[in-house]
Amino acid sequence: MGSNGETQWNTSEIPAEEPDRQLYFVKKAAGIVKRENDRLGRMQTAAVITFGCQMNARDSEKLSGILRDIGYQPVESEHADFVIYNTCTVRDNANQRLYGRLGVAHAEKKKNPRMKIALCGCMMQEPSAVEKIKKSYGFVDIIFGTHNIFKLAELIVNSYEQQGMIIDLWDNTDKIVENLPVERKYPFKSGVNIMFGCDNFCSYCIVPYVRGRERSRRPSDILLEIERLVADGVKEVMLLGQNVNSYGKKPDYGMTFAGLLREVEKIEGLKRIRFMTSHPKDLSDELIAVMKQSDKICRHLHLPLQSGSSRLLKLMNRRYDKEQYLALALKLRREIPDISITTDIIVGFPGETEEDFQDTLDVVRRVQFDNAFTFIYSKRTGTPAAAMEDQVPEDVVHERFDRLLKLVQDTARSRAALMTGTVQEVLAEGMNEQDASLVTGRMSNNCLVHFPGTPDMIGGLYRILLSECRGFYYIGRLYDQEAEKHE
Ligand code: 5AD
Ligand code: SF4
Repeated sequence: MGSNGETQWNTSEIPAEEPDRQLYFVKKAAGIVKRENDRLGRMQTAAVITFGCQMNARDSEKLSGILRDIGYQPVESEHADFVIYNTCTVRDNANQRLYGRLGVAHAEKKKNPRMKIALCGCMMQEPSAVEKIKKSYGFVDIIFGTHNIFKLAELIVNSYEQQGMIIDLWDNTDKIVENLPVERKYPFKSGVNIMFGCDNFCSYCIVPYVRGRERSRRPSDILLEIERLVADGVKEVMLLGQNVNSYGKKPDYGMTFAGLLREVEKIEGLKRIRFMTSHPKDLSDELIAVMKQSDKICRHLHLPLQSGSSRLLKLMNRRYDKEQYLALALKLRREIPDISITTDIIVGFPGETEEDFQDTLDVVRRVQFDNAFTFIYSKRTGTPAAAMEDQVPEDVVHERFDRLLKLVQDTARSRAALMTGTVQEVLAEGMNEQDASLVTGRMSNNCLVHFPGTPDMIGGLYRILLSECRGFYYIGRLYDQEAEKHE
């Protein structure tokens, strides 16, 4: 062996295949962290700070699992030895919030120069954002993206062994790494990725660029993960994908989303199944039939509308029109009368006229959404809509936004009140933050209920009488004994 003999020996020891490679780096990072602990006489701490959607929340649980196995003690704030921001870039305000938080992290790093700061997630897949960070936020230690979050341990080791900012960004991947550590936020419920990426290219949306091409996980991997979760006490799963209705097409596993739901339903001990998000263009009759027959699939469908104007829907590349959306939503209400339908709506897409906006209000009135997330259009560089002329003036957008919000809230309030006096099954999720004598839980339709109870009830399913509706949530009380018997 030459002068670099030792390096060669070390390299050949590193497993080439995942997850073994990362498990090797977890051990190696654990050694580094232990040395730091011994040197400082205290435990190294780490914070995972998450922006954005449920996909990111699930990714953060994977990051937390890796950090836990490395030996970091979890903390919530930037006052930590390792801070990782899992970023979002769907709208510009998410980017701005990150820059604000980086200022906080920088102040901490000045006090603790050995602190490490990492950035990952959607915003890092945008070259312009990375350029800005390199130029103006040089104190950041590690940057990686959405396709390689599984590499956290390896990147931590690299950053201890090399000088300067470690940047590892992939344009795309067809790789799905299974069986990595994960740390769940809730013992009784969990997100489960069933697919990654998006191929829809709605014209306003940056997700297909930052999350890459659509790829589904193998049904057997998904079912095994859920079986393990249930064995570990999970009662409710949320199947996650940008467009779950096209599950199983890429690659073709010969199983539709409805077929997957049928298999998940068979898992003994699992009590509730949720999923998000559904694209209206792909929602099949088969799915409606499966939901209708199911005891476990929750009575809730998130069905983004985006706009009620057929003209704008075409420009948005949504591939359905106002009439098709209405027909679908009304069919759902007819077939599954107790279903709650929620939606996303964008106000101020380029060229939106008052008439287009009236179409949106019309759909909201006719569908009677149980809840709606309303967004002001945000121009995302690189998307087709960013190049469209006719951006709507800010004051017009704000005025429309306020009108829409009022209608959506009135509608949601009147829908919520319909269940007053009924008895519903509620999963107890936590103690009420304002009143420690109340437990907060969720009904099948996703509505929140607060009822008198104790911390030991968390994670159980109870039959609750909804005595009073307070706007968007209920106050209730235990109707009879626990709805299910714990084994
Ligand atoms: N501007 C505003 N809202 C957007 N969304 C996606 N892209 C944009 C954008 N450029 C909204 C859509 C989507 C939700 C997750 O975010 O309504 O359904
Ligand atoms: Fe974005 Fe459309 Fe894909 Fe949803 S379906 S992530 S809005 S491109």
